[in-house]
Amino acid sequence: MKRIALKDYEIVFANELDFLSQFIKDKSPSAVFVLVDANTEKYCLPVIENHIKPFNYKKISIAAGEENKHLGTCEIIWKNLLDNHADRKALMINLGGGVIGDMGGFAASCYKRGIDFINIPTTVLSQVDASIGGKLAVDFKYGKNLIGLFRNPGLVFISTEFYQSLSEREYKNGFAEIFKHALIRSKEQWEKLSSLSSLYAENIDKIIFDSVMVKKEVVEIDPFEKGLRKILNFGHTIGHAVEAVSIEESKAPLFHGEAVVVGMICEAFLSTKQSTLTQRELTEIIEILGKHFTKYDISLFDREKVWNYMLMDKKNEASIVQYAGLNAIGEANYNQVLDKEAFQEALDFYQNL
Ligand SMILES: NC(=O)c1ccc[n+]([C@@H]2O[C@H](COP(=O)([O-])OP(=O)(O)OC[C@H]3O[C@@H](n4cnc5c(N)ncnc54)[C@H](O)[C@@H]3O)[C@@H](O)[C@H]2O)c1
Ligand SMILES: [Zn+2]
Repeated sequence: MKRIALKDYEIVFANELDFLSQFIKDKSPSAVFVLVDANTEKYCLPVIENHIKPFNYKKISIAAGEENKHLGTCEIIWKNLLDNHADRKALMINLGGGVIGDMGGFAASCYKRGIDFINIPTTVLSQVDASIGGKLAVDFKYGKNLIGLFRNPGLVFISTEFYQSLSEREYKNGFAEIFKHALIRSKEQWEKLSSLSSLYAENIDKIIFDSVMVKKEVVEIDPFEKGLRKILNFGHTIGHAVEAVSIEESKAPLFHGEAVVVGMICEAFLSTKQSTLTQRELTEIIEILGKHFTKYDISLFDREKVWNYMLMDKKNEASIVQYAGLNAIGEANYNQVLDKEAFQEALDFYQNL
């Protein structure tokens, strides 16, 4: 069993779950609640059920999907806790992807001014990204993650057992962030990933561990995104906007990770102009990402809309669009200014690949 110790909690990697029951026992909560969505109730709860049964847990089940990540669903969660007389020593286990982790953590943090919670992320994306760094939020009116706070879980429990029920598309979705972590911080990991012929790798546990380590190091240095943490946004300035427009305009919208791959290629291209990334490195990035992700036809997207989304980005300062770029493979920068002309050029570059 591997562990990563952070300042006030641990991330534990294990495919046997005895550790989980021991952790709960040691905490001796007054009650245990497990938050699931329809999919994780069906596929993931059975994996942990025997280990939490002794605590006579109560299940809170909500509908799956980003469209349910809002205050209305939190009300359902809070009502459930109240109806079951949960006090401030109750413990919430968030069993699911990033939606469950973000919203469950948020709901737990507000309930009676905060009860403890454990995150058991069950998608690749939530394991390497959403479950670390303490960002908790729900979507609200104008956009994603607008209402939220920073607060850490008591424990993050990561197991690759949960992948068995993930579709290939969901599985790959998380790999976009794994590639991102390597590109911004570890040439060594990038080289290991580059040699994979399939993402269903035998050493998947190690790949996940190494990827989590990158995020852990970054958020520990800069927990509140004052500087360095911004490198985690590599691929996300253009990626988020492309994702938002694809959700708005397309019958078959891109997944987050797929849009981030588009964003990473565009922002790597920009890095050859505005930073020191070489042409050779750019070609390598395109080749490796292209091995696992298909090229998307972005010509149908309304570019004005994409640009307007970028203007609304939470990360902008004084309405100037900024992105995180690469100085080299394994070394990122941030606060790079992006004007509309360069944005057009980057999208043209992607489109003509
Ligand atoms: N807090 C952060 O730092 C952070 C970072 C990245 C993303 N996020 C958030 O995470 C969310 C995206 O996470 P996600 O991609 O995990 O989305 P998700 O939670 O919606 O999960 C994707 C789908 O997979 C299903 N699912 C989950 N685990 C499964 C399993 N093991 N087997 C079968 N189906 C399973 C879910 O029911 C859902 O339908 C977004 O809301 C995003 O804002 C947060
Ligand atoms: Zn992301």
